[in-house]
Amino acid sequence: MRLLEEKIKKDGRVLNENVLKVDSFLNHQIDPNLMNELGKEFSQLFAGEGITKIVTIESSGIAPAVMAGLYMNVPVIFARKRKSVTLTDDLLTASVHSFTKNETSELAIAKKYLNENDKVLIIDDFLANGQAALALVEMVQQANSSVAGIGIVIEKSFQPGAQILKEQGLRVESLARIASLSNGEVTFITEDME
Ligand code: G4P
Ligand code: NA
Ligand code: NA
Repeated sequence: MRLLEEKIKKDGRVLNENVLKVDSFLNHQIDPNLMNELGKEFSQLFAGEGITKIVTIESSGIAPAVMAGLYMNVPVIFARKRKSVTLTDDLLTASVHSFTKNETSELAIAKKYLNENDKVLIIDDFLANGQAALALVEMVQQANSSVAGIGIVIEKSFQPGAQILKEQGLRVESLARIASLSNGEVTFITEDME
């Protein structure tokens, strides 16, 4: 998505060859107009999939997910990150290990918000190792809902997440795909590279 790539080029900062900082429009300060365009793009990409719910994860997935929900006219559920591992039977749960942060968190969604008739679009801000997305897939499956696809704002294609998800037969649509963050520069995957 050209608009997003231009925003990343202009306002993103390459922290090192693995991490892109986008605090000025996505991860801390939020650009509502950009979020609106991202939501519209997701709704167009997944139109015709019969999506009934969007599932994301707090906190940075919420803004683009809500905008997509607005265009698709469906509710948006965000998985909560819980400090406690205590389980109750009203919850769908999964644990997710972040390689970036080297910490494991427990995710939870109240069972009452997903059921076997739901077709779910999973949305997240970044796709790196895919662990967060896989945990969301697991919770959607616990509810006997189906996963219609995964919408990602920024995919770091040089990390394994996208491939892992696609190997599971999941449809992954990423609005920006980063081939490399080497030499302090963002290089996108363009059509002629594929
Ligand atoms: P994974 O889910 O794909 O395996 O990713 P990973 O564990 O590596 O990511 C952990 C957190 O770091 C996630 O946010 C993810 O969005 C974020 N992240 C991963 N790579 C980058 C990057 O290059 N730049 C930025 N800015 N973030 C990255 P989180 O901890 O869930 O935080 P938040 O959603 O509350 O912001
Ligand atoms: Na994040
Ligand atoms: Na995230």
